Amino acid sequence: MSQTQLSDSRATHGPDTAASALMRGTDGAPCATFQAYQRITGGIEGWFGDGAIAVWDALLDFQQRSRVVGHMLEIGVHHGKSAALMAMYAQPGFKVLLVDHALKAPKIEQALAAARPAAGVEFLTVKGDSRELGVNPLIVQTYRQHRWIHIDGEHSAGAVTNDMRIANQLLANDGVLVVDDFFSWLYPQVTEAVLRYVRQNPDDFALFLCGFNKAYLARPHSVHNYLRFCAEELPEALQARGQETTVGKTTYPAEMNVFGVGPRFQGKALRGPDWEDKLVRY
Ligand SMILES: C[S@@+](CC[C@H](N)C(=O)[O-])C[C@H]1O[C@@H](n2cnc3c(N)ncnc32)[C@H](O)[C@@H]1O
Repeated sequence: MSQTQLSDSRATHGPDTAASALMRGTDGAPCATFQAYQRITGGIEGWFGDGAIAVWDALLDFQQRSRVVGHMLEIGVHHGKSAALMAMYAQPGFKVLLVDHALKAPKIEQALAAARPAAGVEFLTVKGDSRELGVNPLIVQTYRQHRWIHIDGEHSAGAVTNDMRIANQLLANDGVLVVDDFFSWLYPQVTEAVLRYVRQNPDDFALFLCGFNKAYLARPHSVHNYLRFCAEELPEALQARGQETTVGKTTYPAEMNVFGVGPRFQGKALRGPDWEDKLVRY
């Protein structure tokens, strides 16, 4: 268990010098990939809000700095809005699998071209229902080698459970699984399916962050790295990406070890429990 004690300035102000250094990409430019994505996202139809974009960019940048490598998978691509950000972070020698039962190949190709991915990234599209993925040879070929998986296909509880089972076969030890429409009023069954899966299979995934419509999960043995990131880097990372947010950790780890992120609340960038709001325990 770790904890972060906040000073007032850390809780309420923008990035300090050390944090700013962490925001720099490999080319030295602050949030360069985020800025590049901002330039193309308006031209792609889809469902991927600014808050979620900033959280993804911060986490993908953290993976890059932490030398986390692997393939990527998205179930539910539409025109490739979120896939384009994945493409920007995809690493040479690895695959990006894009699965959709109503695959819109020309639109997706357009989005991926705008993302200008690195040379040597292999994009594979699969047109089909994600329930059929379990018997696709790609599952064996890329078993436990994915560092980023986004589930955004059919929003029934049954489909989400199926997609999480697929993700369990594919996610690497240090990867991240993202599930769309977690805590959405329109799809309460998605929230139920994610929480039920984690409760029934605690050795597969641990939830570490939720907010801006998404749930973020990691393998139980590496979730501490992502929890530490949420406490120590995410607030400044979101600020650096122009997002006025609050990262909250509002109860004891033994009760629920999950951060939340949403629009700025009570003027704080990082907030602990109601009874001790400057102490973040995880
Ligand atoms: C909300 S959209 C995806 C949005 C996209 N990720 C974005 O960034 O805009 C959901 C997509 O899931 C696809 N889909 C729905 N049910 C599916 C299923 N059972 N298997 C595979 N794809 C499915 C739909 O065709 C649709 O393109």
